[in-house]
Amino acid sequence: MTGPQSVDNALTPTNDRDWIIEEGGYDPLREASRGARFAISNGFLGVRGARALHRGGRWVDTSRTLVAGLFDTPDDERAIPGLVATPDWLQVRISLQGEPLVHRPGDGESQRRILDMRRGTLITEDRLSNASDVGVRLRSLHIVSLDQRTIGLQLLQLEIEQEEVEVTLKASLEGLDIGLVSERVEPGLAVWHTISTARRLAIAVGLTLQIDGQDIPATRTGPFHWSWSWKSQRGQVGSLQRLVAITRGDTEDADPGRQALDALCVVRKPGWPGVMAAHERAWIARWDGSDVEVEGDPAAQQALRFALYHLNGAANPADESVSIAARALTGDDYRGHVFWDTEIYLLPFYILTWPEAARALLMYRFRTLDGAREKALGMGWRGALYAWESADTGAETSPSKVIGPDRKVVNVRCGKQEQHISADVAYAVWQYWQGTGDEIFLRDAGAEILLETARFWSSRAQVDTDGHCHIRGVIGPDEYHESINDSAFTNVMARWNILRALDVVGLLRERWPQTWERLSGRLGLDDGELKQWRSVADTIVTGFDPSTGLFEQFAGFFALEYIDLGDYLGRSVPMDVVLGRDRTQKSQVVKQADVVALLALLPDEFPDDSGAKNFDYYAERCGHGSSLSRAIHGIVAGRLGRTELALDYFKGTSAIDLEDSQASIDGGVHIAGLGGIWLMAVFGFAGLSLHSDHLALDPRLPSGWKTLAFSVQWRSRKLKIRLVQAT
Ligand code: BGC
Repeated sequence: MTGPQSVDNALTPTNDRDWIIEEGGYDPLREASRGARFAISNGFLGVRGARALHRGGRWVDTSRTLVAGLFDTPDDERAIPGLVATPDWLQVRISLQGEPLVHRPGDGESQRRILDMRRGTLITEDRLSNASDVGVRLRSLHIVSLDQRTIGLQLLQLEIEQEEVEVTLKASLEGLDIGLVSERVEPGLAVWHTISTARRLAIAVGLTLQIDGQDIPATRTGPFHWSWSWKSQRGQVGSLQRLVAITRGDTEDADPGRQALDALCVVRKPGWPGVMAAHERAWIARWDGSDVEVEGDPAAQQALRFALYHLNGAANPADESVSIAARALTGDDYRGHVFWDTEIYLLPFYILTWPEAARALLMYRFRTLDGAREKALGMGWRGALYAWESADTGAETSPSKVIGPDRKVVNVRCGKQEQHISADVAYAVWQYWQGTGDEIFLRDAGAEILLETARFWSSRAQVDTDGHCHIRGVIGPDEYHESINDSAFTNVMARWNILRALDVVGLLRERWPQTWERLSGRLGLDDGELKQWRSVADTIVTGFDPSTGLFEQFAGFFALEYIDLGDYLGRSVPMDVVLGRDRTQKSQVVKQADVVALLALLPDEFPDDSGAKNFDYYAERCGHGSSLSRAIHGIVAGRLGRTELALDYFKGTSAIDLEDSQASIDGGVHIAGLGGIWLMAVFGFAGLSLHSDHLALDPRLPSGWKTLAFSVQWRSRKLKIRLVQAT
């Protein structure tokens, strides 16, 4: 039996401020952004960082749980697949003397929410009272286990302040009417299925209430309700301990109910202390492999830890059927869809600190290759065109219309035109290969991705009368400009994609000739086609002008209206709202790093000092209308030795999720921006780069950073790197 003392320990956050994010008070208007910031996640389950107690309906943020891969297309009005809401397994309601406890906005000081990042744990501490001011001290803890990803744990401790108080505590699993169809409900187990995708979700629950260390039987129970009533003494300590197992079944014959019961049975033996201990060990291992330490800049240290906390909680090396959504599992903006964010902003972190997770993420792209082939074919091309927004099957899931920041309906063309995604996926495959040397992955999965994406580009680019290949009608990373021709980012990445595919052909022929025979036979690839690829790579226009050293972002960009963004400093809305869509499209205002992104990804494509020239030219024109933008500028500024400027970009990116400085974070943290924070530290300030036979460092630390230390893995070797500021 577990006494109150050990619950007490679990509920005590680490006292090292560098590992803590903390906010006090209760403000209904800020609940949603806190729900995102304080979310806990393990790559399979993501739980919003809500308060300990529930009252009323869902009008303020609840402890909603997202399950990776649980996509559905529930009805015609929501024809696009999205992650579905799942039952809230954390519901608790308490009443004292028959009156419920209330969270009052004015109670500020007595309510604290603490993210203990070292332990991957959300802790809350409240002093609450009912309308008659009978009070209770409440502490709670939520985790989703990093050791066993199906398991969630809630601990709630309550200490009654007055003598002889009638206490009722109700714990329930809310949300039987949440857009899932109930299939089976029995004591402690429920199974649902999605409406149109026939996926299943099961939750098995076991809970105990202890008073002063003794188990107390529930006064009333229903299949998913437990209620305890007792007369409490002053200072008496009650603790609720709830363990859940949540499983997803993707096929008809899967039995997630059985799996959930089995998983719960396994963890009930060691009980919650065993679950907690295994979870903490798993977090320690992740921190050991990924922590970044900065001496001399506590704010940067906190930003890095916060980023790493969410990055380590976003991936699941054991599930190759899912990838990381634009808001990870911390909120449902973008409906859980996956973008280039994963390959460009997140994969480098996983490749270099957690290759197993990186591999699973790339296997998701391998498993969705058919969807990408169908998209290419449907648009009249060959090979694989990945979905700009991808869910479970790899089919395109971008909406065709959305409500813009100015509340007007806007057509979205990204699903058809933002095609650089195919090269971005290929880029990540190659980076993984460079970083890990994982031959089996390259041979059995990566090579096919590289070949099919190269084939797409080779069919997509058209030879013109000028003898050059062109790619017309696309959107580059800068989404303010649509239907453009010869996007420098797209064309150069496409060329690079084709060249790496030709490299892989050479590699397969040399090392694995039988694999090459089989694969080229299956794909119908012959020497004639490979020759055509080479010719596309040789003749594709890039927009680079050797006389100025500038890439033209796309054909005609230089002729657009120049707008001095200095005139709009301090604006609170993005530039496309300030100028209107029409004028923005006719201007040189760039939404986010575009040519600068190319410079970050392929610096060797920029000869001599053209990197600096392009950076200066485009940074001045960038409105940073996306949370992804500053991070890329930060990497490049860091590499160029503009260290203090890079630090500004670092701070700007950190503020997005920690200070709600840019877009709303209600719908989840901006995981790409968080990946960008790691990238700025490691690729920017430390100047780390990956090469075919070595890693290189070219450090330039901001003046306030005394040291920068981090861990990376390169080709199975674990390295701890510590850089010290020159004095
Ligand atoms: C950005 C894209 C990004 C998407 C999801 C958009 O606002 O422009 O580059 O992939 O958000 O984060």
